[in-house]
Amino acid sequence: MINVGLLGCGTVGSGVVELLDKNLGIISRRTGDVIELKRVVDQDLDKCRALGIKESKLSRNFDDILYDDEIDIVVELIGGIEPALTFIMKAMEHGKHVVTANKDLIAEKGKELFDMAQTHKVDFYFEASVAGGIPIIYPLKQSLAGNQIQEVIGILNGTTNYILSKMSEEGRAFADVLREAQELGYAEADPTADIEGLDAGRKIAILASIAFNSRVTVDDVYVEGISKITLNDIKFARELGYVIKLLAVAKQGEDGSIQARVHPAFLPRKHPLAAVNDVYNAVFVRGDAVGEIMHYGQGAGKLPTASSVLGDIIDIGRNILYKANGRISCTCYEDKKILDVSQLRAQFYIRMTVKDQPGVLAGIAGVFGSNNVSLATVLQTTYGGEMAELILITHQVEERDLNDSLVVLRGMPLVGNIDNVIRLEGMDKI
Ligand code: NDP
Ligand code: HSE
Repeated sequence: MINVGLLGCGTVGSGVVELLDKNLGIISRRTGDVIELKRVVDQDLDKCRALGIKESKLSRNFDDILYDDEIDIVVELIGGIEPALTFIMKAMEHGKHVVTANKDLIAEKGKELFDMAQTHKVDFYFEASVAGGIPIIYPLKQSLAGNQIQEVIGILNGTTNYILSKMSEEGRAFADVLREAQELGYAEADPTADIEGLDAGRKIAILASIAFNSRVTVDDVYVEGISKITLNDIKFARELGYVIKLLAVAKQGEDGSIQARVHPAFLPRKHPLAAVNDVYNAVFVRGDAVGEIMHYGQGAGKLPTASSVLGDIIDIGRNILYKANGRISCTCYEDKKILDVSQLRAQFYIRMTVKDQPGVLAGIAGVFGSNNVSLATVLQTTYGGEMAELILITHQVEERDLNDSLVVLRGMPLVGNIDNVIRLEGMDKI
């Protein structure tokens, strides 16, 4: 018997209980032994009772899992940094294997957690922490291990993808769709981490670390959210053959340097990620042998996330039976240089309001030209007043050159406002 101690009867925890109950027969066959939920801990036991768990298995005290020598695997689903970190560290010190879905914890405390797992020769699995039900961590560590990974580009936050999809399909304003996403339970009551890109930033930090075998923390990721995206930007994107997505991008250069960033991006309509809509997530990977692949599915929710947690439990169960724990441990063997976003080259979309009079365009083009910024596309829309809206797409430029140009433009009397600046991504798909 493989005994599991479950910590947390919330959304994901309840999914784990339900799935284990429903598919116990096949899960046990696939593991090679019976998986038993021996103890369930939560601060609110009524939530666990509602799942039909026997009273004798319930506790409010984590020590009832920690000091039970028969428990092999601890499944942490309470979320947050503390006390989750302390519980996991103690579990590993006691020789217990750990499964978690806690992206905040891994993105911030990955090194400490892996060191502890290695010291105590226990398994530490976290497939559900990135993109919920989509298998991506195991494939990167195992199935794609023969490749040099060149890039990982993800739509890793369901809430923002839902908002951008609805703005695009239904022409509704950001605040209106955000309210709906909260009512539907996609966005958190405080949706800041979703909207401002931090949730996706944590997830891409985890994926970049695995893909490039070098530690990338959330502080290394450049993060920009979607709150400045307007219906105007979406309209111009469509006219020019793009969609706007919140992308989490990690790339490795030929010199081994890494870039990791989260920001809204103009993505060519032909790019496979452009068709990923609503709350769905996807991860696009390019490897030197496999070429391009894309993993698509539900990035959150009770059963999709529980599916990943169960996959981890089963694999650890097999390791226990074959005395093979610690097989896939920390894979950050190297310490690669992480580039600052100002050092990167990209194409940019710029939307600005300018005076509608002779010589304005020439003046603006001159500022870009003198800062090494070459323009690829220029569109002007007039609304009949004194001002016009100018849409520019640059060629590939250094981000610091673009920023220098924008500083000068902001000080020019003929420029009313720089309304938005958005990077272009996936241009090999044009
Ligand atoms: P929930 O808030 O639904 O569930 C957490 C449960 O743990 C609640 O019952 C909570 O009780 C309980 N809890 C919190 N702190 C403690 C504590 N100190 N001791 C005992 N019990 C505690 O969270 P989710 O299930 O949504 O998320 C769990 C983890 O999974 C998080 O790390 C999250 O990031 C991750 N995740 C979630 C996804 C999802 O779709 N929900 C998708 C992918 C990952 P109370 O309600 O009283 O606070
Ligand atoms: N808030 C997250 C999202 C849930 O919207 O994708 C899972 O991490």
